[in-house]
Order: sequence, then C-alpha cells, then structure tokens
Amino acid sequence: MPYERIDQRIEYSRALEARYGLPQAAAIFDCLKLAQDAEGHIAPEAERYIEQQLGRPVAEQRRLRSQYDLLSAAIPGGASGAAAERLYDNLLGPDALTIRQSGPLLAASDQEPSITAYLAAGGYQAAGKALRQMRPEAIIDEVKALGLRGRGGAYFPVGVKWEAAAQAAGKHTFLICNADEGEPPTRKDKLLMDQNPYLLLEGMLIAGKALGAPLGLIYLRGDYQESQDSLRTAIAEAHEQGWLGADIQGSGFDFEVEIFLGFGSYVAGCDTAMLESLEGRAAIPRATPPFPTEQGLAGQPTVVNNVETLCNVPILIELGGAAFAQIGDPDCPGTKLFGLGGDIAQAGIYELPTGMPLSAILELAGGVVDDLGAPGTLKAVNPGGVTTGLLTAAEVARVRMSPASLAEHGAYLGSGAITVFNAQRDLRAFAEDVLNFLAEESCGSCMQCPISLRMTQRTLARTHQGLATRAELDAVYERDAMLAAILGCGLGRGSHITVSCALRKFPDDFLGPRDVWPKRMLR
Ligand SMILES: Cc1cc2nc3c(=O)[nH]c(=O)nc-3n(C[C@H](O)[C@H](O)[C@H](O)COP(=O)(O)O)c2cc1C
Ligand code: SF4
Repeated sequence: MPYERIDQRIEYSRALEARYGLPQAAAIFDCLKLAQDAEGHIAPEAERYIEQQLGRPVAEQRRLRSQYDLLSAAIPGGASGAAAERLYDNLLGPDALTIRQSGPLLAASDQEPSITAYLAAGGYQAAGKALRQMRPEAIIDEVKALGLRGRGGAYFPVGVKWEAAAQAAGKHTFLICNADEGEPPTRKDKLLMDQNPYLLLEGMLIAGKALGAPLGLIYLRGDYQESQDSLRTAIAEAHEQGWLGADIQGSGFDFEVEIFLGFGSYVAGCDTAMLESLEGRAAIPRATPPFPTEQGLAGQPTVVNNVETLCNVPILIELGGAAFAQIGDPDCPGTKLFGLGGDIAQAGIYELPTGMPLSAILELAGGVVDDLGAPGTLKAVNPGGVTTGLLTAAEVARVRMSPASLAEHGAYLGSGAITVFNAQRDLRAFAEDVLNFLAEESCGSCMQCPISLRMTQRTLARTHQGLATRAELDAVYERDAMLAAILGCGLGRGSHITVSCALRKFPDDFLGPRDVWPKRMLR
C-alpha cells in the first residue's frame, strides 16, 4: 500500500506543532483511518509503517482503536456501535433533519449554503463589529451580561468560561468547537454545520477574538461527511473573502480554523476526554481541577464550546443585549434547537425559545401518534438524551424546557433531542437500550462505572422473568445516587438517571408475575 497520504498527514501535523504547539501525536487517528479507508481494514504493514513514523507501537495502536467505533473493525472486544445503532434506529426517523420551525439560528438554512448569500443576508456583520469596535473584554462582558449558556448539555455560562480562560496564564488560548454530537439521537449540530457553516465560523472568529486564540479546532464527528464537506468549503471561502487568516479585515487579528475528526467514541464528546483524543491518546476524561480553561490542550488555557453555542454568538452580538435577553427563559435566554422524534406526528428540528412548555412543543409538532400513525396517547418523554431521564404525561403537562424546570422533575435538558413514547411503548426496552449503549461506551477508567452498568443490566434482565428481588431494585436507586457523587464524568454520573426514572415512574413496564416491588416505587 502506498503511504503518501499518511506521510502528508504527518507532515501537516508537524506544521501545526511548529506553529501552535499542537502535539504531533494527534495525527495517529487520521493515519489509522487513512490506512483503513485505503484497504478496507488496517493491514499489519500499515500498522508497522505508522509505528515507524509516529513511534506508536502496534499494540498501542490496537488499544486505541478499540475505543473508537469507526476504527475498531476486526479488533477483538472493540466497540461495535451496535447499541448506539439500535437507539438511533428506534428513535430517529427519516425526518430527523427536516426543519419544522425556524428562528434566528436556522434563518438562513433553507437555502443552498454560500458565503455570498450569507454576506448578503447580513452575515459577518457581528464579526466586523467585534473585530473593529470591541475589545476582547467587552465581548466577554457582553456574553456574560446576556447570560448565554452552553448548548452542549451542561448549560454552563459561556461568558464565565471565556473569562476564566482569557485570564489564565499561558502562551495562548485554544478554542475547540465540540462537533462530536455523540448523543443519540441528536442531529441539531449536523444541521447547523451542513446548512449554515458560516454562522459557526463567524461565531468561532468572535470567540477567538475574545479569547486571544490564534486557532480554533473543530472536533467533528467522523461520519458527518456532509458537514465536513460544507465546513471545508466554508473555510476556503472565508479565507478568500478575508474572514480567516492573517490580519482579518485589516483588524490586525489572525485566526485559523482546523478540522479534527472524531472516530466514534461517545465519551470523547466530554470536553476533557476530547483533549486527550486531540493529543493522540484514548478518550479518557481527565480529573479536574485543573479545568481546561486553566490547563487544556497542550497545557494551554482552552475553551470547549458546542456548535450551537458558538452559532449563538454572532446573533447575540448582532441583536445586542436587550433584544437577546427578551427571548426565552430569563435564566437561559435565547432559542434552542429541539429535535423531535419517536411517536410524534411531525418529527424534525424546531428552533424555539428556551423555557417553552413541553406540552406546547408536542402540540406544535402535531401531537402524539400511535403505532399506526393515528392520534395516540402520551406515555412518556425523554427530554434530551440517554442521561436525561423520563417524564410522565402528567409531568409533561407541567414542565418547561429550561434546565431549572426539568430539574424539578429529576430530568435534564441535555442536547434537546426530545423522544416521545406513546402508550404502546415498553420503557423497559428503552431503559435496556440506554444501559447497553452506556456500557458499550464507558471508557472503564473508573472501575465502578462499567461494573454498576453491568449489574443493572443483569437486574433488568431478571425482571423479564419476574426474578428481580426488591433488594436488587433498591440497589439501582442507590447506585443512581452514589454514582452521581463519585464517578469521573457525566457518562457514569448520569448512567442510572434514565433507568431509575423508568423504574420509579413506570413500574408496570417492569412487573413480572412473581415480582415483589418496593413500596416506594409504587407510590
Ligand atoms: C460522555 C459525554 C459526552 C458528551 N458529548 C458531547 C457532545 O457530543 N457534544 C457537546 O457539545 N458536548 C458534549 N458533552 C459536554 C461537553 O463535555 C462540554 O460540556 C460541552 O462541549 C461544552 O460546551 P458548551 O459549554 O458550549 O455546552 C459531553 C459530555 C459527556 C460527559
Ligand atoms: S465515569 Fe465511566 S465513562 Fe466516565 S471516566 Fe469513569 S469509567 Fe470513563
């Protein structure tokens, strides 16, 4: 097999190391993927070649590959992605990327993406203002004052994160856009990148200016080929039009954007695990502190923000404080992209104000449908992904789609992928799919994480025969509470939320002929 493309990739990573201090080791994953794409598998000669060029022993390469679904074919014990596929297949219909309701973020997304159209619609005006009229601290103050919260799942205040990184000691700050989108069945970031990549690049440019970052990296889910194509075209056009590169629009500010591919590890979407992956290692979350804002990529202050978060930045700068603050929930202002799926008449993506009543969202999407597509009865809603819990129909009638309102019902907003279950659905099947997915994706670095997942899988399996004892079921709740306090990342900490909600709120789905149910579950 000829290795020119591998050589080119290594050459490119040497250039990035020389220019920005990015570890050359990060090239390992791309090299493995190039070898795999060339021959359909990673041949032993290719492994030996990569070993010679990057000094990474074959055994280490195989260990690394086993964690990444897109690189792990033919590795014994490697992640297969089968559980994830089941979750996606069950929950994601053909309309997953259909825009049903458009707000400021999606406004320009129904046309063929082109920088000319973007500029004609007022694109890059916010960046022009930020570059020419605003000092970095003023941008951060504006973002802070408006209370923009991240849209990647944790809803952390963006301005607070930016300020911490801007004030941290280091050679320079790195900006990372989290475009790994591993949360089944989320597709909102894909839609933004496919259809309006300029908005993301503009948001990154403004963030780069605020942080004094010379480089923004997009850690992009490796199987999002359309997003990759659209981003690469947009990056080239932004260079041509002077919105990337040196001395952008005569402002004296230099900024570049590079794409790094993620190869199918759910846990790599966790910010500190992503740093490990970008440094060429297995995606294992780092212990914090130090937080990435103090010591992140290559030891430098680093900000990791979600695609949707960064896309909000130009809108926020353009609209200005008062107008942005008017939209949505005062504690988490702006809009949110909600993906509606499952048993709902009009699945697709809706851009809606945060804090909207969930019942109104379901109504807007045509209401619940039964298995034949006729109007159905609501049983439950999973509000935002595998670690966000379940809501009963009564809770759906009361809850608003804001972090605070969901928390009152033991649930989370997560990525905003809302899955609707009609009265015919068996929530034990969903809980099992969630557990299987998390068990497959756990990195295993904290012993209790995979062990507790396996124990709960076994308990649920025993409910099928009505054999689970009260003590076993009690242990599921105890694990839910205990894991939240001790585990190393959100995967493990949230691993029992959905199953625990399912058991507590929908006990009938788990009842077998001989079950003895804990009283508190039946309350
Ligand atoms: C297991 C795990 C997976 C995650 N996956 C993603 C992801 O795919 N995309 C994302 O933006 N954030 C993901 N996150 C959250 C990130 O750690 C981080 O909070 C986020 O990227 C920060 O961006 P934001 O402040 O703009 O929301 C994940 C977290 C965990 C624990
Ligand atoms: S909680 Fe699970 S996935 Fe997270 S670091 Fe620990 S073992 Fe890895």
